[in-house]
Amino acid sequence: MEQKHLSRRAQWAGRQKIGYLMQQGVDFPDCLSLAAGLVDYATLPSDLVRKTADQLLLDPARQKSVLQYGTTPGSLELRTRLCQHLAELDGVSVAQQNFGVEQVFATTGSQQFLDLVTQAVCDPGDIVLVTAPSYFVYLSTLEGIGCELVPVTCDEEGICVAALDEALSALEAAGKLPRVKILYLVSYFDNPRGSTLGEARRREILDCLDRWLKKQFIYLLEDAAYRELWFDSPPPPSFLQLDSNPDRVIYTQTFSKCLSPGLRTAFGIVPPALVKAFDDLKSIHDFGSPNFSQAILLELLKTGGYHEHVADLRQAYREKGLTLFHALENSGLLSGQATARAPEGGLYVWLQLNDSGITTGFEDQLFRTAAQDFQVMYVPGELFYADSTNPEARLTMRLSYGVQPTGKLATGIERLAGAIQAVAGQPQVQ
Ligand SMILES: Cc1ncc(COP(=O)(O)O)c(C=O)c1O
Repeated sequence: MEQKHLSRRAQWAGRQKIGYLMQQGVDFPDCLSLAAGLVDYATLPSDLVRKTADQLLLDPARQKSVLQYGTTPGSLELRTRLCQHLAELDGVSVAQQNFGVEQVFATTGSQQFLDLVTQAVCDPGDIVLVTAPSYFVYLSTLEGIGCELVPVTCDEEGICVAALDEALSALEAAGKLPRVKILYLVSYFDNPRGSTLGEARRREILDCLDRWLKKQFIYLLEDAAYRELWFDSPPPPSFLQLDSNPDRVIYTQTFSKCLSPGLRTAFGIVPPALVKAFDDLKSIHDFGSPNFSQAILLELLKTGGYHEHVADLRQAYREKGLTLFHALENSGLLSGQATARAPEGGLYVWLQLNDSGITTGFEDQLFRTAAQDFQVMYVPGELFYADSTNPEARLTMRLSYGVQPTGKLATGIERLAGAIQAVAGQPQVQ
């Protein structure tokens, strides 16, 4: 395709991983996709949203205003309600929160929040610490802003504190510490590994940042996209609530996963020093997110319709997650060839192959065999690593139980196991 009339940024965007992944979906349309990060069709709340939209549009006091532009930070009533919602999730009262409503912004998805807040903090060349692996769209966002990404090792629970400390020491030794601006963590049922940072680990991370505070102030950007999608027990309080430093944590949470990505509404909370900068950047970006989506969300939070929906959703995803995991167990893959953990929330299972020569990358034989011969698709682990030379990048894959109906999950795993066995029986062509 002719590229000469495009800006460098557009050409760069065309080379990003998300585009490649979407293209695979187009190239292999008959594939059963365990790759897509879409949510479950069956539980999307069409009736609930239709009734709420009717109420709003039939109410003379609101039927016009919800269709009007809103304000840059979003509806004050919604943002006030979001403070209460977060207080409930964190098990505190609104008075115990160490932020105010003026620090809360409604955004068009948390993707918009992540992008704008990073622009508010980072110049090109600044450093962002990310987990290895991490949410890949944000990795591209960071590259687009011109940030240097420094990956930090994870264990089953998430980021390792010793590795974080070592990474900071290495950056100090290299004279790069003044450029370190943000530590980005998907702190609940993360994308891609499904891990959740427990309260003790959260406190250790904050202690580590405290120890470095004299030398360098680092924002902790907490992405709580999957926080409410827990299966059996609610996860620990947020970094936002745990941190005694009111200036450090930047928090974002989306309603895409637990209500509807079609409404594309999320919120973010920024420390006082970033409020004006965030508002300025958002105002030149879109001067406010869709008012109608915000009004629907507010109504659902007020009536409790949202809470009932999320309770149902937890059960639905629990069943789907465990169906996929049991299918993995039944496939025999977990008896020596690969490892995975039963999901406890969120939308993903992270499968790691043992190092037997089979690699998972887009250009590797397994991906082609799976898509072409077995009609199943996964997301190669390589998408999630800032450092593509990390050996885990080509041994891992993300499997999603979000969009496929329960009945197809076992078929997907049978096909994947078939592809792995087929490739295991062949000499590897790289
Ligand atoms: C970890 C994480 N953060 C943010 C997002 C963005 O979600 P949205 O922009 O729809 O709110 C996603 C979407 O998959 C995600 O997985």
